[in-house]
Amino acid sequence: MTLPIMAFGQPILRKIAEPITKDYPELKELIADMYETMYASNGVGLAAPQIGKSIRLIVIDTNPLADDYPDGKDYKQVFINATITELSGDDWVFNEGCLSVPELREDVIRKSKVHIEYYDQDFNFHSEEFDGVRARVIQHEYDHLQGILFVDRVSSLKKMLIKRRLTEISKGMVSPKYKMIFPHQKKR
Ligand code: NI
Repeated sequence: MTLPIMAFGQPILRKIAEPITKDYPELKELIADMYETMYASNGVGLAAPQIGKSIRLIVIDTNPLADDYPDGKDYKQVFINATITELSGDDWVFNEGCLSVPELREDVIRKSKVHIEYYDQDFNFHSEEFDGVRARVIQHEYDHLQGILFVDRVSSLKKMLIKRRLTEISKGMVSPKYKMIFPHQKKR
């Protein structure tokens, strides 16, 4: 089942998401629905707050980026209760987008490497370092758990330039090919 995506301006996108336990209700179904939603909207990552659940759950599949970034090939992972323990490497500029902020892309500077601790969908613990495009997507999705959006990380000049567009997006003046819930809109 595809789920509607929370649009920029929704308060849940600004909350710190809560950890979950193994017995979180219908977790397997939720993960499957998040993947289905992400694929249907051509995303490479999706965080639970984006589908209206303020929990520390992320799904990633970087395969669609593999043509441009070979290290994106065959990388699909569920992250539960993730914590970034270290950012390292060089500053790297990448043109990011977000399913919650449709039709807007901006250059974002992030570190090239990330060390992250997380549980997978079977609640096995992992402590791993990633670089390149995997590290990029992980950092973008992790931000969602912290209430941060990629538009917060652009230059102050760019922030001024996109301010009006962001207000329009929050008012629903945008036409994504997937279902979204805008602020002040009732959930259907
Ligand atoms: Ni995003």
